Order: sequence, then structure tokens, then C-alpha cells
Amino acid sequence: MKTLVICGSRNPDGRTARAAGAVVTGMKKAGATVEQVFLPALKLERCRQCDDGGWGLCLREGRCVIDDDLADLVEKVRQADALVWATPVYYSDVSESLRAFGDRLRRICTQETGRLSIKGKPALGVCVAGGGGGGSLPCCVSLGHLLTTCGFDVVDMIPVRRQNLEAKLLPLEIAGQWLASGGR
Ligand SMILES: Cc1cc2nc3c(=O)[nH]c(=O)nc-3n(C[C@H](O)[C@H](O)[C@H](O)COP(=O)(O)O)c2cc1C
Repeated sequence: MKTLVICGSRNPDGRTARAAGAVVTGMKKAGATVEQVFLPALKLERCRQCDDGGWGLCLREGRCVIDDDLADLVEKVRQADALVWATPVYYSDVSESLRAFGDRLRRICTQETGRLSIKGKPALGVCVAGGGGGGSLPCCVSLGHLLTTCGFDVVDMIPVRRQNLEAKLLPLEIAGQWLASGGR
């Protein structure tokens, strides 16, 4: 199985990457190939709401008019059999880089061609709160809603907080193993 991990943290050594890394370990144990992307390292503009009505090429053709890293990343999403979305919790919500990507992806997925090879694909979410530890649950709801709107089959959402990160590494690994074994 081919898997893609989309990380909304800029820190490859941070808590979000650590939690995602445990999922990766599990997926690899199940024989999956894993590619990981860190969204802040990519060139991803925010949506321009092109037309007066707020829509754009996304609604008509299922693609975005902006020439940046979006198209390549959407292609990676299409090529993957399963996805892991990992975000640090910011203001009890997903990170800005994940929001920017998700906001544009959901528009592409509104159109039939755009959602090809995305609709129904299994997706696992991980939300890591590293401050006071609050906000991981509303973040899970927000990320789950975003992924559902895109058309993914959201198979699980895992809240993590700084205080339980160590304790959650094994459950995250098991979740990864399960996801890469079919995830349903
Ligand atoms: C702008 C901002 C907002 C944050 N909001 C929250 C929050 O609502 N709850 C929380 O527990 N931590 C919050 N934090 C802390 C992050 O969740 C913490 O830094 C996170 O673990 C970073 O993950 P990383 O190590 O992958 O970068 C916030 C951090 C930033 C920078």
C-alpha cells in the first residue's frame, strides 16, 4: 500500500512529526511505502476566491488557477491509497498551512473530475496540542469536517496532547498498522 503523510507543522523534529512518525512506523510494519510532506515547506498560496460569486476554475474544472505546489500535491493525494493528516493544534484548530491546503483541496473536490481518486479514500487524522494541552478535541472536529468535506473516508481522528504524547505513541503505531492493512 502507498501512503502519504501530510504534516501541518514546520518542524520535522517536533511533537506533530513525532506523533506522525509513530503512525509511519506502524504503516511500514504493515508493509506500506510512506511519503511525508511538510506543508510549510511548500509554496501554497491561500485561495483567491477568483470570481465575484466566490467560485473559480475549481468549480468548473476541478483544478486551481494558482500556479504553485498545489497541483503536484493533489496528484500525490490521488496516487496514495491512504492518507495521514497530522497537525499541531493552533487556537484549538488546524495549523495555517494545513488550512490553506485544505481550503483549496475541498474546492477542487467539489467538482467531479477534481475529486477523482480522492472520494472515499481512507484518511486518518492526528491533532497534537503542545501548549496547555487543550484544544485537541475541537481541532479533531475541525480537521474531520475538512476531510469529510473533501470526500475522504475519515477512518479515525486521534487527539494528542503534550502530556500524553509518550503514552499515545504505541496506539498511534497500531493505528498506522491498521490503516495500512486496509483501514476499514
Ligand atoms: C499560534 C499557536 C497557537 C497555539 N494554540 C494552542 C492551543 O490552542 N492549544 C494547545 O495546547 N497548544 C497550542 N499551541 C502550542 C502547539 O500546539 C505546540 O507548539 C505544538 O505541539 C507544536 O507542534 P510541533 O512540535 O509539531 O511544532 C499553539 C502554538 C502556536 C504557535
